[in-house]
Amino acid sequence: MTNYARMYRLGFTPWERYGAAGGAQLGALLDREARERPAGPGRAIDLGCGRGQFTPELARRGWRAVGLDLVPEAVEAARRKGPAEIDYVVGDVTDLESAGLGTFDLFLDIGCFQGLDADQQAAQARGVTALAAPGATVLMLAFGPTRLRRFIEGVSREEIEAAFTGWDLVSADPADPSGLGWPMNRTSPQWYRLRRPAD
Ligand SMILES: C[S@@+](CC[C@H](N)C(=O)[O-])C[C@H]1O[C@@H](n2cnc3c(N)ncnc32)[C@H](O)[C@@H]1O
Repeated sequence: MTNYARMYRLGFTPWERYGAAGGAQLGALLDREARERPAGPGRAIDLGCGRGQFTPELARRGWRAVGLDLVPEAVEAARRKGPAEIDYVVGDVTDLESAGLGTFDLFLDIGCFQGLDADQQAAQARGVTALAAPGATVLMLAFGPTRLRRFIEGVSREEIEAAFTGWDLVSADPADPSGLGWPMNRTSPQWYRLRRPAD
């Protein structure tokens, strides 16, 4: 059983305290994304969606949304929450190609990539690249690396760039840490935006 599976089972999910602040920021980022896409919102996938804290925000803003997580209980809870048009699947972000999910215009990652080791990060990025439509975007919220990284996770800008070869890192903006609580609120969380060049 993974640590996350244990935490969901115990009901110890501190990252879910980030819903209000994270949701507001995500809403603004999705609005910008929609403005910059002449064709409007397309297909989006929430990688490591957990219990669907943020996936519904994608659907609310017109994206055809898929949520994917390794922990079946979390996926089941997300499904129960709905809305029904979101397709929630159990799957591994390090093996996206075998999930048969089709291609996506937007990849959302809130707190998943930062918890993977370097090989797993490279595998996630490879899968994202394989499933990316031309001009696709990755929106990633991640803690910075700190001395407590082993316990609370975190990733540097350089590690993200090393994994996402062939992508342009177009921005890295400080995220509002309200609601995260100590020590996560000391990790300088950032919203990263990466763009896959259109063919
Ligand atoms: C910090 S939680 C964030 C959950 C959700 N994004 C949120 O903000 O509520 C990280 C999530 O990533 C999931 N996860 C970790 N490794 C994964 C993997 N290899 N494949 C899919 N999901 C994974 C965990 O099960 C957990 O739900």
